[in-house]
Parts: sequence; structure tokens; C-alpha cells
Amino acid sequence: MRVIDAFRQAYGGEPAGVWHAPGRVNLIGEHTDYNDGFVLPFAVPWGVTAAVSPREDLTIRISSLQAPGEEQVLEDVERAEGWARYPAGVVSTMRGAGLPVRGADIVIDGDVPKGAGLSSSAALEVSVGLALNDLYGLGLEPMALAKLCQKAENEFVGMPCGIMDQAASALSKEGHALFLDCRSLASRAVPFDLSAYGLQILIINTGVHHELADGQYAKRRQDCENAAKHLGVPSLRDVTDLTAALSRLSGDERARTQHVVTENHRVEAVIGLLRAGAVQEIGALLNASHLSLRDQFEVSCPELDVAVEGAVKGGARGARMTGGGFGGSAIALVADDRVDRVRTTVEQAYAERGWAAPTFLPATPAAGAHRVR
Ligand code: GLA
Repeated sequence: MRVIDAFRQAYGGEPAGVWHAPGRVNLIGEHTDYNDGFVLPFAVPWGVTAAVSPREDLTIRISSLQAPGEEQVLEDVERAEGWARYPAGVVSTMRGAGLPVRGADIVIDGDVPKGAGLSSSAALEVSVGLALNDLYGLGLEPMALAKLCQKAENEFVGMPCGIMDQAASALSKEGHALFLDCRSLASRAVPFDLSAYGLQILIINTGVHHELADGQYAKRRQDCENAAKHLGVPSLRDVTDLTAALSRLSGDERARTQHVVTENHRVEAVIGLLRAGAVQEIGALLNASHLSLRDQFEVSCPELDVAVEGAVKGGARGARMTGGGFGGSAIALVADDRVDRVRTTVEQAYAERGWAAPTFLPATPAAGAHRVR
């Protein structure tokens, strides 16, 4: 394994172990996690692999095959910079929780496509978190580990994300999507083997990342919290009468509420259809989710819209943006024999606008975080 070779070169000797954590796509349930709602992500075949050994002292030495020559030696993890803030945040959060985490030598190797919005940061957090959990015998269950990684991202990195990405990375099962209730944190593996139906989920990576993204994410969260406050409910999850709720709201708060409440219902509908074996029928719900994210939640962008429209025009059963939005990837539900047509239709639509071609990746549901050796 090349991460082991790199570890030997960097630190001399064998790593105590190697751990892998995947990125994710979200099938449906977007911007619902921080509203105590439902999500249905699955792990992708790409992620972060970490070769790690414990140390006697408290120092963290960390390097990445994707950032050659940028090793960071951290006697104080608060000093970490750039990409190393994600794993350093996990160490800091574990120590802050009173867990007995000492130092570590860490080499990272990641293959999550860049800028695809497939949660490479969650994969980085969870791979290192799981390594420390095993090496220091912390006894954290996967959900406890996911929560700790989310806390690291919220408080150490400063991104106010929900629990979806870390939970998907930590808990997913191969061949399954992960149905997660973000209030109770109860989760269930939902069989999601599309090949049996001659279907696949095709990721369309727009390759763009609009700079607005981070501030806008926090703003959407705030809109939702304000709306819940106006309605006198703990969170938008608790809205039962949508018509009544909408009549009491206006502007952004009204539009965000409309999205979140209907999106939770779409997740439940998708679960029902999957249970019934009516996989093709989820396409319509993917389309509806995209329109709602575009028009009510306002987190799409022209590149995502054109990818989704092109996919549907090319014969996809349905398509939607996935993840936080403002760039990253769309997903399309496509019959195996339509994949080429979907690709050409999207490529043409991009070429007509003078945009660089997007990339296409088939997404089969992969295993969640685990020890590799
Ligand atoms: C990002 C966040 C998640 C979630 C999605 C939107 O990926 O990290 O917590 O809020 O956006 O569904």
C-alpha cells in the first residue's frame, strides 16, 4: 500500500495500523440534518486512508500524499494549518472531552475527487478519529465518533455543518444507504443495490466551487432557526401543518421552511418506495428535491441546474444537486443503457455555454469507516 510506503519513508518503521473512511453522496434529504430532520446518504468508493502510530509524547506529526512537502509537526494542535486543521480538530476535541489521546504519527492518502462536494473533510476527520479510537482504546461507538468529528468541524474548523457527512462516513454499510433521523440519531441501513434493477447513480461533478458557499451555508441555517423561533417550535422538523406555518412566515424564512418540511416528506417517500422495490419511482422525488433546493432553499447554481436538466433531458429517471450546494456534484438516477446518452447531453449543454466539461463517476454504495490492517 502506498500510504504504508510513505509512512516508512516519513517516520521510519511500520505504522501501528491503517484505517479508511469514505466520502458520501446524499441520495435525498438536503439541508434537513441541522433541522433535526431525515437524511439518506451513502458512502462512496473514494475516501481517506490514514496510516497511524501512537507516540509517547503529545506531539502530532502529520503529512499527506496530496500535499507533498507540507508535513506539520504539532506540539500544540491548535497551531495546525490548512487541511491539517480537520484531523487536528479531532485530536483537540477528543482531548477536550477528557479522552486519553496522546501523540501520533500520521500519513494521509485521499482519493475523493477534488471540488466534488463528496465530503473529503468528513472522511479525513473520521479516518483519523477511528485510528485514535482504536489505538488509544477510547471505546467510541461509530455515532459517538461521528458526533465528535462534527464538533471538531463546528468548533475547531468553524464550519457549522450538521451530522450527515460524518455519520455517513462512520456508519454506512456496503450496498446500503443510511437512513438517519438527525434528532434521535437512530439509523437504519436501507438496501440500495441498483444493479439488480439495471440502474445506477451517476455523479456529475461540476468541478466548480462558488466562493459564497461557506457564508451562505451559515445564513441558511440561521434562516431555518429564525423560522422555527417564529413558529414557536424547537426546529422545522416539528412543523406538522405546512399551510398554517407558511401563512405565518414571509420572505426567506417562508421559502426555507417550505423546502425543509417537504424535503423530510420526500425522504420518507423514498424510503417507502425503496422498501416496495419501486426504485425507478424515486426519480420524480429527486427532481422535486432539486427544484425545491433551487427555488426555495436557493443553494443551487447554474452549473448544477444545467447538469440536472441535461441529465433528465438525456433520459435520467431523475436528478438533483447533492450536498451543500453552490457547486460540487449532482446525482442522476440512470438506467445502465442510458448512461452514455446522459453524459453526452450534459457535456453538450456545458459546451454550448463554454464551460469546462464536468466529470462523471458511477457511485456504488461502499462500506463505512473501518480498519484496513
Ligand atoms: C453539507 C453539510 C451537511 C449538510 C449538507 C446539506 O454537506 O456538511 O451537514 O447540511 O451540506 O444537506
